[in-house]
Amino acid sequence: MRPRIELHERDAIVVGGGGAGLAAAGYLAKHQNLQTAVISKLYPTRSHTGTAQGGIGASLGNIDPEGDSWEWHMFDTVKGGDYLADQDGVEVLCREAVEMVYELEHMGLPFSRTPDGRIAQRRFGGHTRDFGEAPVRRSCYAADRTGHMILQTFYQQCIKHNVEFYDEYLAVDVIMDGGRCRGVLALEIHSGDLHLFHAKAVLFATGGFGRMFEITSNAVTLTGDGPALLWRRGVPLQDMEFFQFHPTGIYKLGILITEGVRGEGGVLRNNEGERFMERYAPNMKDLASRDVVARAIHSELRAGRGIDGKGYVNLDATNLGAEIIEKRLPDIADFTRTYLGIDPVTVPIPVQPTAHYAMGGIPTDLHGRVLLDAKGSVAEGLYAAGECACVSVHGANRLGTNSLLDLVVFGRRAGLHMAQYAAGADIGDLPPEPEAEAAALLSRIRNNNKGGGERAATIRDEMQAIMTKDVSVFRTAEQLGEARAKISELRVRYKDVRIDDKGKIFNLDLMEAFELGCLLDCAHATVSSAENRTESRGAHYREDYPDRDDNEWLKHTLAYLKADDRVEFDYKPVSITRFEPKERVY
Ligand code: FUM
Repeated sequence: MRPRIELHERDAIVVGGGGAGLAAAGYLAKHQNLQTAVISKLYPTRSHTGTAQGGIGASLGNIDPEGDSWEWHMFDTVKGGDYLADQDGVEVLCREAVEMVYELEHMGLPFSRTPDGRIAQRRFGGHTRDFGEAPVRRSCYAADRTGHMILQTFYQQCIKHNVEFYDEYLAVDVIMDGGRCRGVLALEIHSGDLHLFHAKAVLFATGGFGRMFEITSNAVTLTGDGPALLWRRGVPLQDMEFFQFHPTGIYKLGILITEGVRGEGGVLRNNEGERFMERYAPNMKDLASRDVVARAIHSELRAGRGIDGKGYVNLDATNLGAEIIEKRLPDIADFTRTYLGIDPVTVPIPVQPTAHYAMGGIPTDLHGRVLLDAKGSVAEGLYAAGECACVSVHGANRLGTNSLLDLVVFGRRAGLHMAQYAAGADIGDLPPEPEAEAAALLSRIRNNNKGGGERAATIRDEMQAIMTKDVSVFRTAEQLGEARAKISELRVRYKDVRIDDKGKIFNLDLMEAFELGCLLDCAHATVSSAENRTESRGAHYREDYPDRDDNEWLKHTLAYLKADDRVEFDYKPVSITRFEPKERVY
């Protein structure tokens, strides 16, 4: 029996209601008055952008007498990314940052203020003045709720410009016809019905995939749906080996404790009370880039200098005083009181590195158009922005505050380009039976009654355990080989996954099993790409290849999924316009 399918026709569809999706949708609807719809598996203002705490980077230079410039910001971003970022993109990011932050201010975003009323700015890791001389205050913040405020601001813009919302719809396939996108298929979570959104242009802004790890700052919804759906349709995934571990997640829970704590003056200490970052990064200390700090913490733990012999160090904010903590870091004070029962005003916070951000993802150009190969062939009508995309402006390691910046700058750019494209495009015909494959997959999961089938949670737990053990801050060929074999085994077992809830209405069991398939795709691409890159760069640290190798590896990885489940690689050059690769010293 064919499933019930409702058909919708729109000019443009945005998949994902986080910061990038809402930015794109708002600009799309405003500029060409197009029929624009957002489909989101969450109520949009609950999206993960809301958890980005410490700020958005822009060289406003509001703090006298430091000053700032977009060139310094660009240098820091390129250096932080270990010279893998495309510098044409980084220039766009850092130049447009300033205008974008003022635009957000004019839309009503309630930034924290300096005493004389300007947007307040604070320090963050890897952000410097005079090309690396000393830390600079560049992060524009709304207490430690900056991402939350960005979401609210863009959501209001979308409402103002009549964007339509399909909340609690899970995208289950992208409809491609040759190299052209024709729409998206989505599961309405409430009814269990399928909806086919036929459109001139589609943007994926589905966020990251940190849930492939056990200890992560990512929400349960971050399951890599966008990258996986496109990968299955022949789009490569770029630079998947580069996954960022944020140095300060709450011990065992992974919940983010913003780098803003160190930006305000908090420091990391080992079991001897030593401020150990002085040894690893004598200049920037606790404000070195995240890859450097995460490795330093792991090294301290390996050397037995964790607190009480356990797997954490202390983030000591007791020198900040109650007023700064309550005023500038209220959410982290709340988290530590709620989840740990400790008060950061008087007690250090136990932290460990937490899987935080994917530098890699769906390859795009500077207008968010999805790229199909190393030559830069464009998938017509198909766009991506935000964490699921790889522009690439973060290279091998992202600087803090550049993720919110990426999603507003490239969300806007993608929205504006889509608007222009969709205004002139014809909607075209859908290919025959566009729902067939996804409907068959969902039906197979829902109706698997075989005794031998396994529950999704069993497979997910094993995936998260192996990714956390072997594809972490430090990696070796042996670990990656073991992880690849395990992920391949799990992918075979997943074909027989079973769920207990056989119903249609709000079937979260079905949704989680589907999402697990997406995570397994992202894990497959990540592990294979990490095993393939035999050098260390940014967040990808190979203990068996500890040096950066610019002769061989100053290039982006493109990973393709082949029919026999093999991953095949191609490469594309890095755009270097201003800053030649140098050794990184912090
Ligand atoms: O530490 C933080 O507030 C995280 C920000 C980011 O990932 O950019």
